[in-house]
Amino acid sequence: MVTLGIESSCDDCAAAIVQEGKHILSHVIHSQFDTHHPYGGVVPELASRNHLEKIIPVIEKAMNDARLGWNDLEGIAVTYGPGLIGSLLVGLSAAKALSFSLDIPFCGINHLEGHLLAIQLENPTLAFPFIGLIVSGGHTSLYQVEGFGNYRLLGQTRDDAAGEAFDKVAKLLHLGYPGGITVDRLAKEGDPQFFDFPRAMTTSTSLDFSFSGLKTAVRYFVERKGEAFSKAHLSDLLASFQEAVVDCLLIKLSQAAEMTKIKTIVICGGVAANKRLRLRTAEMVKEKGLEIHFPSPYLCTDNAAMIASVGYHYLRQGRSSPLTLNAEANLIL
Ligand code: KG4
Ligand code: ZN
Repeated sequence: MVTLGIESSCDDCAAAIVQEGKHILSHVIHSQFDTHHPYGGVVPELASRNHLEKIIPVIEKAMNDARLGWNDLEGIAVTYGPGLIGSLLVGLSAAKALSFSLDIPFCGINHLEGHLLAIQLENPTLAFPFIGLIVSGGHTSLYQVEGFGNYRLLGQTRDDAAGEAFDKVAKLLHLGYPGGITVDRLAKEGDPQFFDFPRAMTTSTSLDFSFSGLKTAVRYFVERKGEAFSKAHLSDLLASFQEAVVDCLLIKLSQAAEMTKIKTIVICGGVAANKRLRLRTAEMVKEKGLEIHFPSPYLCTDNAAMIASVGYHYLRQGRSSPLTLNAEANLIL
């Protein structure tokens, strides 16, 4: 089955063609970085307008790159939540229009399910169950993944997402938006033990996270020591902040593995591209006899291939969505 995936939940307009749920024939992403960068964050109204301009060219490029004609498509998978409502509606409307005009089924996909199962594209034989950690700009959620459509939420952030903390700290230090990748790069040269930032929730048995106190602690540090000092020790400051985030994530992953007795861990979402997180996780799993899988960085951040892949599994079972399906900003998994 040849599936077209469409993803427009936030600030990336993406389309991909995936065969049999695992062979990526093409994948196209139009980033709205230039649109939102001057504002230091995503402006929802600008995001939906930009999606409206780009959605057709992005889908056409995915079709051309895969060297396919419209009649080669057998199904469509589209993100219908969670995300920005105006952005979601653009992708969903495009999917419905194509589904209706080509007379092929479409399936609405939960964006979080796409992230959790993105690993299947590169590792289709990975066995269930596994512990899946989604760490992105909007979510920090820990799931027990038993199979397609079978997820148990083990814990989630009570305030900011990990990626949001990266972005807010980067903004505070005038490093641009989104800041995760810049923090990752600059922290490489720094000393993670330079300052001992708080690790919230780590002594609790709950598998929830909290990152807003950490972000505030960085702000207080900068206010107390002054901008000049913080700039002079930028790499050390960022490395110490990053180390606190990584510690929080690893402590909960380790607790989850102990509680569930599941030995396989998958980390996905934009923050999964973080180099320090990858290194420290590799050390942790070695020490504890666990197994870790990270999707490639381009499959960690928002993309349409992960949506097409999940959609394939549902469409193959005959599970499609009605044309009345609506976008849901706060869809949960
Ligand atoms: O999954 P994603 O592309 O979009 C959401 O669904 O949120 O994740 C974007 C988030 C942003 O907060 C970004 O700063 C963060 O992922 N991010 C990183 C890195 N690359 C992206 N955070 C830390 N280190 C990175 N290398
Ligand atoms: Zn995402």
